[in-house]
Amino acid sequence: MIVSQATIQAVQRVARIEEVVADFVSLKKKGQNFWACCPFHHEQTPSFSVSPTKGFYKCFGCDAAGDVITFVQQIEGVSFVEAITALAQRYGIPVASAETRMQDLQAYQAKESLYMLLNLAKNYYADLLWHHPEAATVALPYLAQRAIQPAIAKKFALGYSLNSWNGFYTFAIEKGVTLERLVAAGLVVQNGTKVYDRFRGRLMFPIHNSSGQVVAFGARHMVTPAQSTSDIQSLEEAQSTGYVAVCAERRQDPTPEWPLATEVRKQSTAVDSPKYINSPETPVYQKGSLLYGLSFAKQSIKQVSNCYLVEGYTDVLAFHRAGVEQVVASAGTALTEIQIDALYRFTAKVTLVFDGDQAGMQAAVRGIDKLLTKGLEVKVILLPSGEDPDSYLRKVGVDAFNHYIHCSAQDFITFKAGFLLSVEQSPVAQAKAIREIVQSIVAIPDEIARTLFLKKCSKLFAIEEEVLVTTYRALLHKSMPVWRQKKTFATPHGRPITNPYVDPKNLPLTSKLTASIEAYEREIMRILLAYGATKVAEDKPLYTYIFLELADVAFRSTECKVLFDYCKAVAQQGGLVDMQCCLDSKEAAIRKIAIDLTASPHDISEAWVKKYGIYTMEEGQNAQRLSLEVILRLKIRLVQELIEENRAALTQALPADEEMELLKVHQLLKDSECSIAKQLGTVVVQ
Ligand code: UTP
Ligand code: MN
Repeated sequence: MIVSQATIQAVQRVARIEEVVADFVSLKKKGQNFWACCPFHHEQTPSFSVSPTKGFYKCFGCDAAGDVITFVQQIEGVSFVEAITALAQRYGIPVASAETRMQDLQAYQAKESLYMLLNLAKNYYADLLWHHPEAATVALPYLAQRAIQPAIAKKFALGYSLNSWNGFYTFAIEKGVTLERLVAAGLVVQNGTKVYDRFRGRLMFPIHNSSGQVVAFGARHMVTPAQSTSDIQSLEEAQSTGYVAVCAERRQDPTPEWPLATEVRKQSTAVDSPKYINSPETPVYQKGSLLYGLSFAKQSIKQVSNCYLVEGYTDVLAFHRAGVEQVVASAGTALTEIQIDALYRFTAKVTLVFDGDQAGMQAAVRGIDKLLTKGLEVKVILLPSGEDPDSYLRKVGVDAFNHYIHCSAQDFITFKAGFLLSVEQSPVAQAKAIREIVQSIVAIPDEIARTLFLKKCSKLFAIEEEVLVTTYRALLHKSMPVWRQKKTFATPHGRPITNPYVDPKNLPLTSKLTASIEAYEREIMRILLAYGATKVAEDKPLYTYIFLELADVAFRSTECKVLFDYCKAVAQQGGLVDMQCCLDSKEAAIRKIAIDLTASPHDISEAWVKKYGIYTMEEGQNAQRLSLEVILRLKIRLVQELIEENRAALTQALPADEEMELLKVHQLLKDSECSIAKQLGTVVVQ
């Protein structure tokens, strides 16, 4: 179905942007507008504004902007029609259909029919779980044993698929669903002439997308009926859950309307069939793109601004059982970029929960850098060896569980240090471990956080900060190419020239060459657009590196700032940053600035050539070195400007204590200038 113009207008009229946005972030009123930390990029101070009167949101940090419909589209990652439908539902606006472009219509209908079919399946499996005798002998006792209360099972819409080849198939065909659609939804398998249910004799976990629609299933292999009867002994432990009673009742009174399952066979094959099978990929479900439990977690994540990240379906359920709802699972795959981005929309703080055994820790260590690179603040909880949240909760009970997860979260560095250093003790291994930890620190985009972690790391290992900083710098600039170490370069004329960068006395240090701050900014932007997409270290594009280095710099020229913020937004949305992305911008201003920048002569590099006869080598090859150098020069200029201001203030007649303060500031600024200059030296000479 497609929505009519009337519906769109009604949504635009009725939907209140501040209400819709408030579902995702906490808004604070300031004057006419509301403010929040932007849900589309990571930030500490709010630059995301919502204007109820204009019906617009705008982020001054990442340039995200639009109306209530764009907001839903962006935050939920859905199409225009899906956004309208969701809003119409929220405000109880009847959705009227209308003609629209054929292509959209077909794609939309295909998706919509999948959603409907998957929903039908969800209800079918849930009904079986609660009403079918086979479920009463197999699945309900199992849930009881796992201490999954009925309320939790219902909240997550758990179900049961009969141990039969065509239970769902027959049911759906009778409802008029075509075989083609059943196969497309991944519910039925067609193998030559054989057609059969994909899920048989399994506990069904519907997988919801972030807006709560069922898009797939995870299906857990169940104990066979024979096994379950023998398990009943252990059920006594779980009698408090009320399941035993339910089972007894069901067994005596099997609901007659249900077609009796094709005799519950002993699942001889079940032993080697996988514990979980999942839906295949479909147009509404891509593996590794969803986080299990996100739709149930959204509100809580927002309230507490943290999210627990666990491994399995049952672990998500365990947290809910303990009353903690801000939890999601990557469910089966290693955490993907898409999943991290999905999480990032709701919070910048994640707590990973891992089994304390070696395998669990390995996974934790691998996952961390990926999260850090994205700017997430990461903590880790290690459960006692061999336990997952679900088993641990069953072992210790709700109170002890809650206490544990509240009290044993470590920041990533403490965790990684504990892990790496507990394994290997030889000095060589220790040095390697430290490098690995520093590598994680390098991944953090925020420079202040990086510095703090270096300090912490130095305390933890009792290693001088200086030593760590050296390692850190080496890693940060590891990718500095071999050319820098070369003494000479071949030229097309055959006469080799000296690499000016290897001899410190050739260094065009600040005293030798200073350009205006704006000129440096333009030069940085020029390099960014010209070479942003060039791969540098670890196959990362140059722009990630430039953004990292500029994390603590605010551009002065509005033009550069606008363009820079645009580029950052492009990168955040997973696009490549280069000239093309600017030319693709819908905003004429962006296109114009980008063109002006690249069209104008690049003052700085050319000035270097002219003044110092520095051979500019293949510029693209040098892009990373060049960018770092220009950035450091910009930073030095900024500090020098502050020094000048401070000096001017010092020339005034001042009370002694104020003068003392200014002198202190002077010293700090001088230190800072000196350290940047040193870094510039390292970068250039190393
Ligand atoms: P686990 O083996 O830890 O399962 O796998 P679990 O969730 O704790 O389930 P129980 O406690 O044994 O009942 C973690 C997750 O990995 C995926 C599932 O999403 C599971 O929740 N998985 C696991 C699969 O997709 N297939 C498998 O065969 C096993
Ligand atoms: Mn488990």
